[in-house]
Amino acid sequence: MNIPSTMRAVVLTGHGGPEVLEFRDDCPVPEPGPDQVLIKVGACGMNNTDVNTRSGWYSKTVTGATSGDALPKVDDEDPSWGGAPISFPRIQGADAVGTVVALGADANPSLLGKRVMVDCWLRDWNDPLNKDKTGYFGSECDGGFAEYAVAHHRNLGVIESPLSDAELATFSCSYSTAEGMLSRANVGKDDTVLVTGASGGVGSALIQLAHRRGARVVCLASEAKHADLAKLSPAAILPRSPGNLKAALQQSIGQSTVSVVADIVGGTYFPTLIDALERGGRYTCSGAIAGPIVELDLRTLYLRDLTFTGSTVLPPHIFKDLVGYITRGELRPMLAATYPLSDFHNAQAAFIYKAHTGNIVVVP
Ligand SMILES: NC(=O)c1ccc[n+]([C@@H]2O[C@H](COP(=O)([O-])OP(=O)(O)OC[C@H]3O[C@@H](n4cnc5c(N)ncnc54)[C@H](OP(=O)(O)O)[C@@H]3O)[C@@H](O)[C@H]2O)c1
Repeated sequence: MNIPSTMRAVVLTGHGGPEVLEFRDDCPVPEPGPDQVLIKVGACGMNNTDVNTRSGWYSKTVTGATSGDALPKVDDEDPSWGGAPISFPRIQGADAVGTVVALGADANPSLLGKRVMVDCWLRDWNDPLNKDKTGYFGSECDGGFAEYAVAHHRNLGVIESPLSDAELATFSCSYSTAEGMLSRANVGKDDTVLVTGASGGVGSALIQLAHRRGARVVCLASEAKHADLAKLSPAAILPRSPGNLKAALQQSIGQSTVSVVADIVGGTYFPTLIDALERGGRYTCSGAIAGPIVELDLRTLYLRDLTFTGSTVLPPHIFKDLVGYITRGELRPMLAATYPLSDFHNAQAAFIYKAHTGNIVVVP
């Protein structure tokens, strides 16, 4: 294949508002290292981590909701998910899907020509279970908001599926995060799971993956998105933050508490969520889009025998399992919109505005 020397890409030039993202048509096409492959990107999904890393929201100096705006005070020492600085320029984009078009000297030759999805979690493949030796595709290395990207040959899932590249680009970050949360909370068929932010990427994945485990699901989402969510057949769909959550649960599913809360929203509604957990219930969390600082009554935690789990860095089997679910057609992509890479600023504005249900994807 004829591989050009330059490519189009969206480049993050520093922390700040949307203006620090630049669409360029003269970026060098990366060369795969010995263990890497070169991927011609077919599509790349958008995620809040792109927005949070750009703005520096992960910094402990930031206490508010994700907004996508430039933040007034970001500590240069901890602006990334991992609590360390990242280097610029950086091409973001975790959810890359594409075709392998070139191989490094030591890369698995069977990958050439295959359609692949990237596992966002970069690992030390000599110590792959060590969570302290990890990075994120599009954060600690360049990602998929480009025509080409390189990835370690073991960081790929070969996909055989009738789904388009854009549909496949909805899965990697959101669905592996959701599966990690459910796995940490040990969700099974006897559970009733309350999902916050259910209309979003992780939320719509939580619904499907909790169903896969046989659990019953209740969703919280803006009412404009309820019709879209009904296609996933949850047991009940409630407004984003019901004034009396226990009464709303009682009315919709015949019980006022749940065994699991799967939360990616946090913020001021957190105490209400915790109060809706049954004795021995589990709270599992992977995000805090409405705000990371929450109020916790420790009496509720200990007197009700609750278990809290956080989930971010995932064991390698989660991505492998996800590839299996996709290739067996067990998951339904929630592709809300695609944008050309050249229209990236509008794509990210729509992503932040959040009138959509599911995921937004850019196509180079
Ligand atoms: N730890 C990890 O590895 C990991 C991985 C992926 C995502 N995350 C985090 O998880 C969170 C959700 O990610 P996502 O991809 O599912 O996001 P998303 O697609 O943007 O969906 C988030 C949903 O949350 C709801 N929401 C409720 N309160 C909100 C508020 N104050 N502001 C904005 N949205 C609000 C919105 O739905 P309604 O309008 O229907 O209420 C929205 O659709 C983010 O904070 C993200 O950074 C973490």
